[in-house]
Amino acid sequence: MRIAHLSDLHLLSLDGARAVDFAGKRLLGGINLALNRGRHYSARVFEAMVDDVNAQGVDHVACTGDLTNLALESEFRFAREHFDRFRIGPAAVTCIPGNHDGYVPAVRGVFETTFAPYCAPDEGWGWNGAGHWPVVRMRGDVAIIAVSTSRPTHLLAAYGAVGAEQLARLDQVLGDPRLDGYFRLVLVHHPPVGRGARSMLRGFRDRAAFVELVARHGAELVLHGHEHLDVTHEITRPTGGSILVRGIQAGTYDGGLAERQSRYRIYTVARGAAGRPTVVGEELRIYRSGTHTFAQDSARAA
Ligand SMILES: [Fe+2]
Ligand SMILES: [Fe+2]
Repeated sequence: MRIAHLSDLHLLSLDGARAVDFAGKRLLGGINLALNRGRHYSARVFEAMVDDVNAQGVDHVACTGDLTNLALESEFRFAREHFDRFRIGPAAVTCIPGNHDGYVPAVRGVFETTFAPYCAPDEGWGWNGAGHWPVVRMRGDVAIIAVSTSRPTHLLAAYGAVGAEQLARLDQVLGDPRLDGYFRLVLVHHPPVGRGARSMLRGFRDRAAFVELVARHGAELVLHGHEHLDVTHEITRPTGGSILVRGIQAGTYDGGLAERQSRYRIYTVARGAAGRPTVVGEELRIYRSGTHTFAQDSARAA
């Protein structure tokens, strides 16, 4: 099974946005966007990425949040249109929200509605109205456990948190015998470990409780976004061993900084010698501005 990890698209569309939408936090966000993001992040790059993913023939796409910038209705519509271009369809594409997709209290639930087919839980994994997350989707040998850290924050902040209720449900999911023998892939927007996780303004507020749960129950891979960088960390298990935790660059960045250039990674999961599904290969595909295409990372391919 080949799984593509991409993140942080920050797809910008101000189509139909009204002046009243730009009050408070959105005003500051809007100024930041005009000065910076709008220049360096391009929806065209994501169009090329979708074309490349379609051509690569992956089995699943995992997107770890920040699909929009200001969580405007126009942006959600625009982002949804872009995701609908994945040929494998929403049952094979899993999206979680980032801090930007829950920017202000008024948009609570809009992500879950707009991207409903992309974050619909499998039958038997719903929470009967007690919340939407975590979402569980079983695909082949892989159990995708999608978590939301998205919540409105105060001005200039970008932190996230899972919250006590979702943590309790996550405890239940990770301890569920239905996951036995599966490759447990956890998706979360904010990095749960590393320097970024500890940031007061941008970090993962209840990361300690999240990490404790994941370490205790175990998982095969944790993927995150938010950092806009290809970072690798580990969660150490109390019983020994560790769990790989990885980020990826923003999927639309083409702003001149090579280490931030848009890319995505394809993980190949298969049953290893011990009979358990494990990562047996990976490939990084990076955006080339000159040709407007994605190509395998030549440094690694060599
Ligand atoms: Fe982001
Ligand atoms: Fe973020």
